[in-house]
Amino acid sequence: TIDQKVNALLKQMTIEEKIGQLNQYSGDWSATGPITINPNKQSEIKKGLLGSMLNVLGTTYTRQYQEYALQSRLKIPLLFGQDVIHGYKTTFPIPLAEAASWDLEAMELSARISATETAASGIHWTFAPMVDICRDPRWGRVMEGAGEDSYLGAKIAYARVKGFQGKLGEINSVMACVKHFAAYGAAVGGRDYNSVDMSERMLWETYLPPFKAALDAGAATFMNSFNDLNGIPATGNKYLQRDILKGKWKFNGFVISDWGSIGEMVAHGYAKDKKNAAFDAIAAGSDMDMESNCYRENLAQLVKEKKVPIALVDDAVKRVLRKKFELGLFDDPFKFCNANREQKELNNPEHTKIAREVATKSIVLLKNKNNLLPLSKTTKTIAFIGPMVKPLRANHGFWALDLKNIDSTYIVSQWKGLENKVGKNSKLLYAKGCDIEGENKDGFAEAVATANQADVVILSIGERYDMSGEAKSRSNIHLPGVQEDLVKAIVATGKPVVILINAGRPLVFNWTADNVPAILYTWWLGSEAGNAIADVLFGDYNPSGKLPMSFPRDEGQIPIYYNHFNTGRPTQNQENTNYVSAYIDLENGPKFPFGYGLSYTTFQYSDLKLSKTKLKNTEIIEVTLNITNSGKVVGEEVVQLYLRDRVGSVVRPIIELKDFRKIKLNAGETKTLKFVIDNSKLSFYNSKLEYQSEPGDFDLMIGSSSEDIRLKGSFELIK
Ligand code: IFM
Repeated sequence: TIDQKVNALLKQMTIEEKIGQLNQYSGDWSATGPITINPNKQSEIKKGLLGSMLNVLGTTYTRQYQEYALQSRLKIPLLFGQDVIHGYKTTFPIPLAEAASWDLEAMELSARISATETAASGIHWTFAPMVDICRDPRWGRVMEGAGEDSYLGAKIAYARVKGFQGKLGEINSVMACVKHFAAYGAAVGGRDYNSVDMSERMLWETYLPPFKAALDAGAATFMNSFNDLNGIPATGNKYLQRDILKGKWKFNGFVISDWGSIGEMVAHGYAKDKKNAAFDAIAAGSDMDMESNCYRENLAQLVKEKKVPIALVDDAVKRVLRKKFELGLFDDPFKFCNANREQKELNNPEHTKIAREVATKSIVLLKNKNNLLPLSKTTKTIAFIGPMVKPLRANHGFWALDLKNIDSTYIVSQWKGLENKVGKNSKLLYAKGCDIEGENKDGFAEAVATANQADVVILSIGERYDMSGEAKSRSNIHLPGVQEDLVKAIVATGKPVVILINAGRPLVFNWTADNVPAILYTWWLGSEAGNAIADVLFGDYNPSGKLPMSFPRDEGQIPIYYNHFNTGRPTQNQENTNYVSAYIDLENGPKFPFGYGLSYTTFQYSDLKLSKTKLKNTEIIEVTLNITNSGKVVGEEVVQLYLRDRVGSVVRPIIELKDFRKIKLNAGETKTLKFVIDNSKLSFYNSKLEYQSEPGDFDLMIGSSSEDIRLKGSFELIK
């Protein structure tokens, strides 16, 4: 068995070789953290003192490093990891955008394709999915997760792990790395790497479920986190890693630190020096050290001084070796280094096709007054204006790889997408208007003149690819620069205007939302962005995305999330809003709510039936309803099922997503949907952190968004 092989190998290893397996260095590709390039890397690998590398791309380079590893005494192959967050060469929508598709199959498929390309490039392991729940769009890494809701987040985490890993060990699969364990998305003030302070119940109820779901999907590895949680850095947090992950959840893969996060426990003021940091990390269950050198420099000495039992080191090494065996690297260390296969998979037209489909599904139609969209393909003159229209990088997204080879052979700009779609029928005019950032309005006059010559204006604005991502927190999430002034200038022409907002997070754009007739939220959609956007603009795809996060009216509302408590002084149904839980200068609700998104068609909800209205916790209720496409074109609807537990031993949210289904209906078609409510949907963590339901009344709400409830029912849980 693999365990026997691991044990046999371990017996042959010196302490230095063991610690080597727990060490990871960055290669030469763009560093993803503070650089401490080790000049002795090559010789250390040849001595068997390195277990893994990141940022080594492609079969040529991975092969080269693997050859060094095979010159070592025990010939233990290296593991190559990489941040393949939204695609390897074929770039998919950023994860937050994909989450807006609410299409689990699509997300599994995009992860599968990313895995295929990654594995064909010599890499064994992606540092994804990121499953951090986030209720704060100021946090730059919000682009990398699935939004604010733990139910949706858990479903997506499961799908993505399945997609990346397929059948681990097969040639087109990579190990997933679920990150960042835990609660990183709740960094105070939305500032990256910042502290997190939260109740145990909040941790279990909101932040941990996606991690558990990823584990249930078979995730091979976890990454711990930069943040401290209630005063203890996640990297040195025994409760998180040993008690929950490896203890209660019985995780048998390995945990890697984040970049330098073991050493950073010194800056946190948690460890006196790097030696103590190494001790804290290994004691807490952090198995592999990414780039801090704390293990390499201190672990042997700590073992010698009997401060760290060798059993702890052995356990960590076994976890790493087991994965190398499971991947088949001992049978063939070059299994993933076939240059022909790399060439073939990185140029697979099927991948491009799917990237386009997933991108169309991720677009959210926020507004469509008087059905301005879809545009006619015979429109005579179209002005395409804005700083996001032409750059290839505009929609590629923060974690896009292969940057050196960015070119138009595989990245479709928005301009190109429009040309592809209507270039032959329509006259297309372009003006940049302004930069993404800065105060310069010199381009406005040309933009206005261009708009004046057109029948319709499409205006593409938003955030640059590097304005959301790691270390890209923003205190101001309004549309950057003078872009909203450009919107005003173009709207003043009186021409029909469609806005595309490209961003890695929810932005604030109140004037635009109130004054522009048609708005598509196009996020960063990846290499097929241009074609996908054109598909939606001209009705070849009917938009079906729904927001996975609440869009605030102002930064002052943050954190903002739909599933909040009622408080003792709720604002709902109150005429007098004095002395209630409200702002005196802004309403409480978001500009666009969680679960919101329009379509070119309309859907009617009817015939809600519950199989019973009283149930015991061993029983289920079957809920059925009809959905009808009452418009003129085929469309997809995300039918969302929410519950409210009216009274609990701890207060419960006013509304909580508990299920959803994305369905496709032809014009005029009706489908009957069935949901099942079981005890798990009624349960929550009580004050003793026991996950259980309590007898009492529940509201059932089914709708098209968290604020657009179409059908209501109620039932009682009895003893
Ligand atoms: O995987 C990432 C992590 O999410 C943030 N810091 C750097 C790591 C490796 O690039």
